[in-house]
Amino acid sequence: MTDLNGKTAMITGAASGIGLASVELFVERGASVIAADVQDEAGKALETRFGSDRVRFVHCDVTQDADLQNALAKGHEAFGRLDILFNNAGSGGTPTRLEELDLDGYDQTMALLLRSVFAATKFAIPYLKENGGGSVINTSSISAVCAGYAPITYSVAKKGVAHFSRLAAAELAGDKIRVNAILPGFIATSIFGNSLGVSKEVSLQMSEMIAQNGGTMQPAGRVGHGRDIAEMAAFLASDAASFITGSEFTVDGGMTVGPRHSWDTSDPGPLLNALGLTIEQAEAMRDAMLAAKTT
Ligand SMILES: NC(=O)c1ccc[n+]([C@@H]2O[C@H](COP(=O)([O-])OP(=O)(O)OC[C@H]3O[C@@H](n4cnc5c(N)ncnc54)[C@H](O)[C@@H]3O)[C@@H](O)[C@H]2O)c1
Repeated sequence: MTDLNGKTAMITGAASGIGLASVELFVERGASVIAADVQDEAGKALETRFGSDRVRFVHCDVTQDADLQNALAKGHEAFGRLDILFNNAGSGGTPTRLEELDLDGYDQTMALLLRSVFAATKFAIPYLKENGGGSVINTSSISAVCAGYAPITYSVAKKGVAHFSRLAAAELAGDKIRVNAILPGFIATSIFGNSLGVSKEVSLQMSEMIAQNGGTMQPAGRVGHGRDIAEMAAFLASDAASFITGSEFTVDGGMTVGPRHSWDTSDPGPLLNALGLTIEQAEAMRDAMLAAKTT
């Protein structure tokens, strides 16, 4: 089991979804956590739940440099060290297609998903160096790999996060700071509802619907949960991952292994569709061919 005893982590986007699951798991594994988020009520509830000696909530809008600097300073003041930075805060990004692209929305998406990762890492370096190094983990997405999972602005920002992780790993290797990216698949959180601008209640209902009905979306046969990503983050944060830096880790239940027909035997796939064949017809043809070869 991943051991985070004696380590201090700052987790952004800590009040919900993947961030919340990470706060829970990091504390379970022995870490103290600076929980940074814009949701004050949910953030303060974390302090009450775990005790302020284990979790400190700091109001922090990751698009604001002063907020990031304040969160890091407050965390350092409270726990005396920083070993792990988990850049995880995010939302769905501007949903418009290129032709209608809202350029202000583009700027906001990049500020939240990409610039914040640069800024938080830059501000965290002196603290991480103080203890001889540390681990930076960045939440990217499978949308960094190909189209079809998220809007173009979001996906390009997440590709940037993945590439940033590789380049920052090279730059910070001498300081013994490891940098890695996690590429989650579909994880049942409120991000989908939040991106549509629905109320918090509806957003939570939507994440429950995904949790109940999303099992068939990927080869793993079950939906992804925040805890699945938190487990990878905890591993990358731990000394067990001391040889791992500059890498990308896909945690998607196999969603990106290949097109649906490659893992779902009930899906005929594009070739059979183009040939107008059912799976049964194609199998009968294959069996006949094999039989002809053996006679
Ligand atoms: N859920 C998925 O399927 C999925 C897939 C790939 C990547 N991701 C990424 O995972 C990360 C976490 O998302 P989630 O699914 O847990 O969503 P979520 O909506 O449950 O949690 C996101 C958290 O980020 C916080 N946040 C938003 N803007 C912020 C800001 N400016 N400053 C500080 N905090 C802010 C929110 O308050 C919220 O607590 C995001 O970066 C997201 O892009 C999610």
